[in-house]
This record gives sequence, structure tokens and C-alpha cells, in this order.
Amino acid sequence: MTQQYELSELIRSDNFIDGKWVASAGGKRFDVTNPATGEVIAQIADSDAADARAATDAAARAFPGWRDTLPRDRAAVLHRWHALMVANADALGRLISLEQGKPLAEGRGEVMYGASYVAWFADEATRIYGDIIPQQQRGKRMSAIKEPVGIVAAITPWNFPLAMIARKIAPALAAGCTVVGKPAEDTPLTALALVMLAHEAGVPAGVLNLISASRENAGPAVGDWLADSRVRKITFTGSTPVGKYLARESAGTLKKLSLELGGNAPFIVFDDADLDAAVTGMLAAKFRNGGQTCVCPNRVYVQSGVYERFADLLATRVAALKVAPATDPAAQIGPMINARAIDKIARHVDDAVSRGVRVLTGGKRLPELGPNYYAPTVLADASPDMQLSCEETFGPVVPLFRFDHEAEAIHAANDTPFGLASYFYSQDVRRIDRVARQLEAGIVGINEGALASEAAPFGGVKESGYGREGSKYGLDDYLSIKYLCQGGLE
Ligand code: SIN
Repeated sequence: MTQQYELSELIRSDNFIDGKWVASAGGKRFDVTNPATGEVIAQIADSDAADARAATDAAARAFPGWRDTLPRDRAAVLHRWHALMVANADALGRLISLEQGKPLAEGRGEVMYGASYVAWFADEATRIYGDIIPQQQRGKRMSAIKEPVGIVAAITPWNFPLAMIARKIAPALAAGCTVVGKPAEDTPLTALALVMLAHEAGVPAGVLNLISASRENAGPAVGDWLADSRVRKITFTGSTPVGKYLARESAGTLKKLSLELGGNAPFIVFDDADLDAAVTGMLAAKFRNGGQTCVCPNRVYVQSGVYERFADLLATRVAALKVAPATDPAAQIGPMINARAIDKIARHVDDAVSRGVRVLTGGKRLPELGPNYYAPTVLADASPDMQLSCEETFGPVVPLFRFDHEAEAIHAANDTPFGLASYFYSQDVRRIDRVARQLEAGIVGINEGALASEAAPFGGVKESGYGREGSKYGLDDYLSIKYLCQGGLE
């Protein structure tokens, strides 16, 4: 019988190092708050470099033992962890909603999404094949085997507090790596709960270590991992400036890096699109987590022949979205994560209004609900000089840009340093092939707005980063190839 916990039993406030819950070395704590109300949910360990070092020491001690376990034994541990996540999906989902603000149904959905990566990589653990290289010389046998890279540092964002850490830890453990991790300061509680369940699932002491830190202390804590040559890989999801910082600062010890960074996703609607499908796809892609998702469309290009009709259909559906605290079962959009996030959204909309957009719906804060709420917004007549065209808004705002020719849309879509996701709607098979090949992005949605899957490779090109998460490719990021050459065989 898989253990089920109450929400309160899942809330941990200490670091998890070497199989034990421990206070931070400096004894400091910081507040984790509910973005809907500003209320303090917990006061948790505020770690610094000493805690990061203790986590690495534990991971280094545990590495040889975990590396040498049979893949099927690692798979069994991951399957037990998956079962615990599923059995506790309601409580974990409520914890996500509490600290991150996404509506309850989305919180539970995130648990199942994150759990799907754990099950996927449990199975992949038993499929880490190498190669026997066809013989090149008599008396010599050559082969390539795959080995775990070593200690992995996982640094994760606030927008998917469970799924992002699960899809980093699961492949690392499947590969035979040990892990040190730090979740975002806004949403550390879900990650700590997940580690508690991993321990219960049988992950041995030292194999998985998690520390929490405030915004002020995160730099020194992570800095210790960047400089430590025992940490062989960094896996990070977050902003492009932080990704570049991690790449620069870890260069001294030449670590392997997976960086899943910012996007500025284009969404193109051609004249020949099924408009109802395009509107439904837009709602699914854009309003997931209130627009606080790296793959959310940020710029919507609509061809002139369908521009007004698409704008009307979309504005009607967006105006009907229910904004409410996550605890309201009818909520479709909750609060934004914090004051910085809501200020950026307001700044983007105000800038666009001052440059002449038409507000079709929304365009304002909702102070009657709380300080962090923003009305879902559709803006017509957006132009490339606006801030929301160049930067990810990360909120519930859809700017519509008009175009006439296919080449113009492709040029505008690619005219950004970023290349994570992109989307387009068309019913012309030749156009579909042409456009899909020309879009500069790691992920392309074709007549589809919901792209997330553990079986698919997730990741970007250009300044959206490198490395892939999920799919059969996702394990390679945690493995290195060793070439074996055996002579004297004749
Ligand atoms: C992200 O926003 O970084 C992840 C979104 C996803 O997994 O679809």
C-alpha cells in the first residue's frame, strides 16, 4: 500500500543532505509566501556555500555505490517514487497551487506531468546501450560504453515547481548520477516534498540532496557548485541571463551543461487555417499557468484575410476566462508569482498602449482580487517596436501582429535571439512542410497548442539554450561515452 500524506505532512522546512533533514549551517531562514494573499506559508532553511559544499560532499561519497547499482534496481526505485507521486497527487497539487498560484486542476495536472518523466526515465534506465564498433584491425576490439557523468547540480524555476525538478532528477538518477539541487526561492516547498517521497521510495542517503536559499544567498550557494570540480554537470531551467552566467562561471571546471532558457514564441495563423482550432490552440498554449510558461506564445502573427475574425473570436473566448485564487475550483487563471512579475506585465501593456495598440479585452490589474492578479488581455495592432515584441512578457497577454505574406511572417518569427517553441496553423500541406523547416526553434507546434510530453525532446536553439529533456534523447545529457580499445586478441 503506497503511503498517502496530508498536505501539512508534506511541508518540510530544512535542507535534505545525506539522507537527513538539517537546518542551514548559518541557522538562517526565509519566508515562503502564498502569491494569492502574501501570507507566509513556511520559514525554511536559507543556505549558503557551506550547505552547498555539504551537499556535494554527500553526493561525492554516494556516487560510486549508486553508479554501480544495476539499472533495473535504479528503475525499481524510480518506479516506487512515481507511485508515491501519483498516490499523493492531490496533496502535491494543492501544495503547488499554494506556493505558486496555479489553479488546482493545473496543480494536479503538473504532478501527473512531472510523474510521467519519472516513469519514463525509470524505463530508460534499463536501455542505456553502447556499441560494439565493427572491427578495423585484426587483434583489436573496439567498443563504446556509456557512463554517468558524475555529480549533477539541478537548479530549477518557480513556474513548474514539481515538473521541472522531476524531469532533471529522474534522468540523472536513471543514468547513475548523484544530485545536488536548489529550487527557486519562490517555490521550494514542492521540491522538498518531492525529495521526501524520493527518500521514502528508497533513494539511498547522499544520492539526492536538496538545499533551499533566498534570492540573496542563492548566488553564493550555487557559486560553490560552479567552482567545484567534483560537480560534473549543471542542469538549469530559467532565464537566459542566468543561463549565460552559469555557463561563464562554470567554464573554469568545464562542466557539461543543459540550459533550458527563455523563449519568445511566435504563433502564426495563416489565411488557410482552421480558425476555431487556432483559437482553441492559442488558449491552450498561452494561458497555461496564466502565461508563465517558457513555451507560451509571446507574439501572434495573423494574416490579413483572417485578422479581424481571429481577433474577435479570440477576444470573446479570453474575456470569458475566470480569474480567481487557485482555491476556487472554477479558477482558470490564478495570481502571478510576485510583484516583479506583475509589474513587468503592466509595463509591457502600458508601453504597447502608449504606442497605439487597441485593447480588445483586459489590459488592467485586478486589485479587487489581490495584488498579483492581471486580467487576461488581447491587444490588436501590435508592432515590432513594442517591448512585448522583444521580451517574454510571461503573463496572460496576447499581442496580435498583422502580416500579408508567408515570408514576412517567417522573417518576423525568427527575428529574435530566442528559439524555444513556435506554433503555426495552416491546412495547406506544402506550406506546413515549408514553414516547419524554416522556423528557428527547438519545438514546433503544427495545428496544435499542447506540446508537452515526456516522450518528446524538450529544448531550444539560439539563446534559448541547449540540451534536451524527456524522450530517448534526454538521458544522453547525463551520460558520457567511453571508448574501449582492447588489443592483443590474436
Ligand atoms: C517551462 O516553462 O520551462 C516548461 C514548460 C513545459 O514543460 O511545457
